[in-house]
Formats: sequence, structure tokens, C-alpha cells
Amino acid sequence: MSALPGMMRCVDRFAVGAVTWIQRLGDLRNAVRQELIGRQLDAHVPAGASVVDVGCGQGTQAIRLARRGCSVIGVDPSIDLLHRCESEARSAGLNVDLRLGRLEDLDAVLGNRRFEVVCAHGLLMYLDDPAFALATLTERLEPGGILSVTFRNGAALAFRPGMRGQWQAAIAAFDASTYVNELGVDARADRLDDITAVLAARGLVTDAWYGVRVFTDPAAADEPLGDVQDFEQLIRAEQLAGSRDPYRQLASQIHLIARKRANPNG
Ligand SMILES: C[S@@+](CC[C@H](N)C(=O)[O-])C[C@H]1O[C@@H](n2cnc3c(N)ncnc32)[C@H](O)[C@@H]1O
Repeated sequence: MSALPGMMRCVDRFAVGAVTWIQRLGDLRNAVRQELIGRQLDAHVPAGASVVDVGCGQGTQAIRLARRGCSVIGVDPSIDLLHRCESEARSAGLNVDLRLGRLEDLDAVLGNRRFEVVCAHGLLMYLDDPAFALATLTERLEPGGILSVTFRNGAALAFRPGMRGQWQAAIAAFDASTYVNELGVDARADRLDDITAVLAARGLVTDAWYGVRVFTDPAAADEPLGDVQDFEQLIRAEQLAGSRDPYRQLASQIHLIARKRANPNG
């Protein structure tokens, strides 16, 4: 794993919730999220593609892509999460090139490299300036390359508290663009139209968008995966909901796949 001297200093909002994140990695909600994002990616990422996963964390998707023969670089500011990723990749006999750094440091971390696939999952909600983040990620794409980005669905913030019977929180969420997430961290939510408009201005077109977690989103944050009788059926139901209206509009996260035009004037 390469370290980056003088990593750019900026507020790391996620760090407040990092311990809880690690504790819950194997729980139901994260397992569903990871499996859905992974299957959605499978449909768009060619085997063997060059990939950078920014904010790769524990590396669930980076490792999954490496297993599919992709050559993957993972970038993250958390040394603990990078160590987890490194150890899991090693036990699986896979190679993921891990680099300590932030989205804001990509020039120093990656030099002038460009990729066929740029991933940023579970990252945008912790950043103050999504337009800057999307521009930075887009710059790393080769012409014709795809961006896979997830963000908290700002159009459905009332759904989770509403389904949990938390009426005061549900009412407040209708007009909110921020929320306190399940890790206790202040986070941002974004709307699909706003994200696609920012990307369109950078020459990206939407290939597909999916909802991530509709039916299981209201489950308790620490609900164990072990209580689920048939995970495959659950995932199938979530996949169907995540790929069609009106269900996907209620998902807690949106997974957007956008493609950089091969010809910027085309
Ligand atoms: C919710 S976790 C998501 C991890 C992984 N991508 C996933 O989807 O499971 C958020 C990750 O973003 C990382 N992160 C936070 N701020 C970042 C930044 N400015 N640049 C890059 N990564 C950042 C955190 O260290 C953490 O690993």
C-alpha cells in the first residue's frame, strides 16, 4: 500500500462513524447494499477493465471487480479500512493496488492516469461540494469510460423514518437536503436530476440508474444478516424494485452509471 506524504487536510466527516461502519459491515443493510451495487456493476463493467475506486473503504466492490479480472486501484484516507481491504484481497489471492489518499488528492495519488471505470460508492454524502467531486471523478475517465457513483436519494428522505413510524422526523425530511445517517454522521442527500445535470455539463450521458435498497432500508441499522431466511430471494426482489419505477424512486441510495462521450463533440 502506498502512503501519500502531506495528504491534503480537509474535514473527514465519515471518520466520526468509521468504527460503527466497520461493526456493521456484515449486517443486513450493508450486505444488501453491496450485493445490489455489485450486481448492477456486473451489467456495465467489462471483465478486465481498468478501474479506480475512490473511497474504496474496506474494498467490497474493488475486490469483487478484481475477482472479475479488472485491474483495480483503490484510494481511501482510512488506513484501517485499507488494511482490511488488503488482508481480504490477499486471502482471496487477488491484487488490488491500494493508495492512501482522498478524492481531493487524486493528482498526487494517481498522476495523470485515466481509467475505463471510475467508482465512488457511499462517498458523495460526506462531501460538501458534489459538483467538485463529480468533476474530479470525471477527469479520471478515459473517453468512453463509465462513472459508477452512489448517493443518498434526496427525493425520498422521508421514506425511512416514515416506514419506521418516526412521524416527526418523516415530516421534517420532506423539505430537507441533509440528514443524520445511521452512523450518526451529518450527511448530504442529492437529487438524481441535479447529479445528472452536473455530469451532462461535463460531457457524460446516463447509461442507467438504479435504486439501492427499497424494501430493506427501514430495517434496524444493526439487524443481522443471519436472520434472513432466503437472501437470494430478497436480493431478487430488491433488484426488481431497484430497476423500475415507481419503486426505485423510493430507494435510500441511487446508483448512477454515466458514460463519458468517446467524442466530446459527438
Ligand atoms: C461509507 S464508506 C464507503 C466505502 C465503500 N466505497 C463502500 O461502498 O462500501 C465511505 C468511504 O469514503 C472514504 N472517504 C471519506 N472522505 C473521503 C474523501 N474526501 N476522499 C476519498 N474517500 C473518502 C471513507 O474513508 C470511507 O472508506
